[in-house]
Parts: sequence; structure tokens; C-alpha cells
Amino acid sequence: MQIILGITGGIAAYKAADLARLLTHQGHRVRCVLTEAGARFITPLTLTSLTGEPCYGANPDQGEWRANPSVEHIELARWADLVAVVPATANIIGKAANGLASDLLSTLLLATRAQVLWAPAMNTGMWEHPAVQANLARLRSFGHAVVDPGEGVLACGEEGSGKLADVLSIAEAIRAQGTPKLSSLSGRRVIITAGPTREDLDPVRTLTNRSTGAMGIELARAFRDVGARVQLVLGGDLPSPWGVETLRVRSAQQMLEACEARWAGCDGLVAAAAVADQRPEVPSAQKIKKGEGTESLHLVRTPDILAQLSASRRTDQWVVGFAAESENHLDHAMAKLRNKRLDAVLVNDVQGGQAFGAQANTLTPITAQGPHPPIGPLPKDQLALAVVRWWSQRLENRLT
Ligand code: C5P
Repeated sequence: MQIILGITGGIAAYKAADLARLLTHQGHRVRCVLTEAGARFITPLTLTSLTGEPCYGANPDQGEWRANPSVEHIELARWADLVAVVPATANIIGKAANGLASDLLSTLLLATRAQVLWAPAMNTGMWEHPAVQANLARLRSFGHAVVDPGEGVLACGEEGSGKLADVLSIAEAIRAQGTPKLSSLSGRRVIITAGPTREDLDPVRTLTNRSTGAMGIELARAFRDVGARVQLVLGGDLPSPWGVETLRVRSAQQMLEACEARWAGCDGLVAAAAVADQRPEVPSAQKIKKGEGTESLHLVRTPDILAQLSASRRTDQWVVGFAAESENHLDHAMAKLRNKRLDAVLVNDVQGGQAFGAQANTLTPITAQGPHPPIGPLPKDQLALAVVRWWSQRLENRLT
């Protein structure tokens, strides 16, 4: 994408440099526009060095690139696919909400037809003021996105809300806003299960597996990016992605309960979790001591979450499962599709340690029509987007 990064005058402006670096590293072209106050906190040299692109000042005589100064705001407004204002002060928010254009950034915000994203940062009193909240509501009504600030100790010494959202979350929000929406999934509610489950033996020991949850998390991000409202039911320790409602669970039973409570309100399920198939029959309340002679565990089956949700589904709900097999994977997956009454199964070949924790992966989709061409090998984030596109195409053509 071609991104204009507007930087206004707050101490959090130094974090915009990190965002500029991150977005450039992700392959975007980033041009920074500083307001007069922004330029007191961070220099154009820092930003041009990080982005390899020109940086612009508040007024026509301050920039470093002068193709046609008289219409510069229009050229920049046209160049951008997305304008992100990070950090956004109460002042620029107020100006943009009311159509005021007094410098390069406010003028190009008025002129652009690109998407606009705001990451406000300010003192708690200012953030909570009805004028600021009303101005942000107005910007949202224009279709702009807002990444709300977090809470913490602010530069002014106060503690409260108003701290710039973390740079990784802002980059996630930019990615989500910049991805074209898919009509068959936009606004749809999707449950995604991800990660391992943990079945406790006693207060210190647990039965689990090698899944990290990375693929499920990438799927959650990809569904979010194309416009779905994602509920991620997540086992394991990986951080939850921005813009996704995450429910953390431990055991298969907890995962089932979290899914069941939400299933009626959802359009689809993607079961990417590596659910433990067995659990100790009675977890011990105390740490189990070393015994003498051979020791054995008595295990019982955990609920099959995917099979249970699939069995209770309405005709308008769709269900996609995963299969991680080390042999005869297509045959096993076909059997799974039939037994669990699934619309599709995505098959992982886990032979030789593939899939779990790996950076790149290949998935072979199976439907009632049989196997489809494999998707990948691709890094997991790109693979997730390719899978979501494949699935949305099928939903559009009503092939489920
Ligand atoms: O039967 P199998 O465990 O191989 O099926 C794998 C698929 O079923 C995956 O989509 C997995 O998330 C789901 N599953 C489940 N609950 C279980 C076992 C598997 O949802 N107890």
C-alpha cells in the first residue's frame, strides 16, 4: 500500500518513527507529513532515513520534495491508499471532524478519497472531554477507523486513558483497513478455535500437544481483514490478535462451552484447534507423588467440539475442519468430512514435523467433490489469506 503517515504534536510522535519503520519493512511505501508541532518532536531526517521516501512539513516551503508545490496536498491525497494519523492530537481531530484545512496534513485529509485511520494520544482529561469524543464519533460516521488509546502512565504524569495504542496494534489496524472486504464474509460472525488444549493431571502437570495456535491466529487475522467479526477461542500462550474478540480457554470442555455459548449467533465455524482427544479421568487436586513399579494413566475421551457443533447447526451455518495426518491424509480427511458432516476439511501433512510451529505450510482443501489443488507452500499469514479467499469464493458460488 501507499501510506501517508500524518504525525502531529504529542510526545508519542517518537513512536511514529517505529511505525514508519515497521510499515516500510512490511513492504508498504510510507510518506510522512509532519504538522508544525509534530516537527518539534521528531525530525524529517529520522523519517526519511527509515522510509526511504520524502517527508513533508506543515507548509509548502517546508517539504523536501517539490514537484508542484501549489497542488501538493492534492497530489499527496491522490497518492495515498490510506492516511494514518499517528499520534493524533485533539487539535487535528477537531479540525478534520469540522472540515478545517489550515496546513498540509489537514488539507490533504480533506482532499483525500483514501481510507483514513486515527490513533489518538492525549491527556486523560482531553481524551474524555465530550468535544473530543463527539469529534471522533463524527470521524467514525465518515467511515474513518479509530484505534482507541490504551491506559497507563502518561507523559503529563497522570495515569489513565489516552496513551497511544501500541505500534503493533496500529499496524494491524492499518492492515485490516487496507484489505479489500469480501462480500460473502463481510459482517459475518465466525468462530475460530485455535491452539492446543491442556488437560490437567494435577496442579503442576498437564497433557497437551505441539500446536502453538499460529495457524488459527493467522486465520483469525485473515477473516478479520476481509470484514468478518471473529470470535477466537484460543488455547496456548500466543498473544491474541488486534481486532478479534478472544476467549482464552484451557481444556477441551472449556473450549466446547465457549463455542456452544456463541454458536447460535454465528454464521460459520473454523476448527483449527489441536484439541486433546483424551484427558485424565479424575484430575488430582494434589501433586501426584512418585509411585513404585509401573505407573499408568487412566484416560477418558474429551468432547469432539467440531462434531458436536456441526451436529447442532442450522442449514445456513457452515463448518470447516482441519486434519493433521501423518499418513494416508486424503483418505482420513475424506472420512472426517463425512463423519463430522463438514463443508470442507483443510489437510495438513504433519510428517517430519511439518505444520506445527513451522513458518510456511501447505493445506489441501477437501470437499464433497474430493480434493482441490493444494494451497501453498506459503508463509502462514499469506496461506491464511489464500484459504479465506478460497473459502469465500465457494460461499459466493454456494458450493458448500
Ligand atoms: O478427528 P480429528 O481430531 O482428527 O479432527 C480434527 C478436526 O476436529 C480439527 O478441525 C479439530 O479442531 C477438530 N476437533 C475438535 N474437537 C476434538 C477433536 C478435534 O473440534 N475433540
